[in-house]
Amino acid sequence: MTNPTSVTPNDLSAFWMPFSANRQFKKNPRMFVAAKDMHFTTSDGRQVLDATSGLWCVNAGHCRPRITEAIQKQAAELDYAPAFQIGHPKVFELANRLVDIAPEGMDHVFFTNSGSESVETALKIALAYHRVKGEGSRFRLIGRERGYHGVNFGGISVGGIVPNRKMFGTLLTGVDHLPHTHLIDKNAFTRGEPEHGAELANELERIVGLHDASTIAAVIVEPVAGSTGVLIPPKGYLQKLRDICTKYGILLIFDEVITGYGRLGTPFASDYYGIIPDIMVTAKGLTNGVIPMGAVFVKSEIHDAFMTGPEHLIEFMHGYTYSGNPMAAAAALGTLETYKEDGLLTRAAEMAPYWEDALHSLSGARHVIDVRNIGLIGAIELDPIAGEPTKRAFSAFVKAFEAGLLIRTTGDIIALSPPLIVSRGDIDEIVATIGDVLNSLE
Ligand SMILES: Cc1ncc(COP(=O)(O)O)c(C=O)c1O
Repeated sequence: MTNPTSVTPNDLSAFWMPFSANRQFKKNPRMFVAAKDMHFTTSDGRQVLDATSGLWCVNAGHCRPRITEAIQKQAAELDYAPAFQIGHPKVFELANRLVDIAPEGMDHVFFTNSGSESVETALKIALAYHRVKGEGSRFRLIGRERGYHGVNFGGISVGGIVPNRKMFGTLLTGVDHLPHTHLIDKNAFTRGEPEHGAELANELERIVGLHDASTIAAVIVEPVAGSTGVLIPPKGYLQKLRDICTKYGILLIFDEVITGYGRLGTPFASDYYGIIPDIMVTAKGLTNGVIPMGAVFVKSEIHDAFMTGPEHLIEFMHGYTYSGNPMAAAAALGTLETYKEDGLLTRAAEMAPYWEDALHSLSGARHVIDVRNIGLIGAIELDPIAGEPTKRAFSAFVKAFEAGLLIRTTGDIIALSPPLIVSRGDIDEIVATIGDVLNSLE
């Protein structure tokens, strides 16, 4: 056993960091100790402009007073209430507030603690829904190549990022994948939705033909894929998916973990595209990233299908100790209040044209092979160093951090998603710093 006094509090070795190059990090750590609005403060006292909303979650900017106050008050009043067979008022209030801003027909909400848990919940609802309707033969789940749906087994099974899947055995069975829509040869440097690729949705017809519709429960996609490097759906693609799902009685699940809560300039991507899925998965911006929480929205038709049988029986055998816990509910209510007061669920629409022009001014910068954008999301794809994929973008990340800018990289793609309070001046600074960083890269 380790002698407790042998490890100093600031020893870095005990903490196994998630999705991080642990050994490299611990040789040269990067630490944040405070944050306010658009900026982090580093442990050496520098200000770092947040161009990624933390991890796509701090949509209202950092340490917003309403959220802080809501959490402080809640912690002193009701710290926890059991989630099963007992309630507390704030979680019901929150569900109602969410239904109010959700797309038409999304009338019920199931709470979780993360995007990954929301995905698992949505997949389980889809499978169980068909079963309660007497269509238990619908067990297949269809995801998409390059899709990211978190890290749990359902999510990595329907997800399509190979390094996230390949170490983990057989995953879920009965899963198939649509092709991804990243046609860089045809669509590079597109502003907004790409022209080419809607026909890739027809692959769903092929998959239905192969397996038969009677075996397929649901299709899950991110309306705009984020973690894989910002893949924007081609014009007409999502509508085609919607139409094919409707035609065959397959549920369409939108994973809105990054697009939810204002990222595209509408409350949800469903609103932006005018396409209503059957189930909508959210997390991140729900609490401004402050307290872990996810919310899965379902249509009444799905919820109501479970509300049969003896009333004393539990209708859906699923839930988490922290589903809708008081602290998270308070944080989410404070967040929704902040979004409302500052008009943040639609502000991205106002800023998007400026954001777009600014980002595309980097089109000619060194190593850049694509720039793409939608709402307040952007990506700059770099030419990889031959034989060393990801290295160039990671160098950009480190150099940007040293220059006072937080960006996110995935593969050789710089992905950007600033807090929705971003100003024109902030956008200029983001673009200028990235331009300097790119020019300085090998
Ligand atoms: C589309 C999507 N789904 C699910 C997740 C997983 O969310 P979490 O990390 O909260 O589990 C993410 C996280 O980035 C995501 O982008």
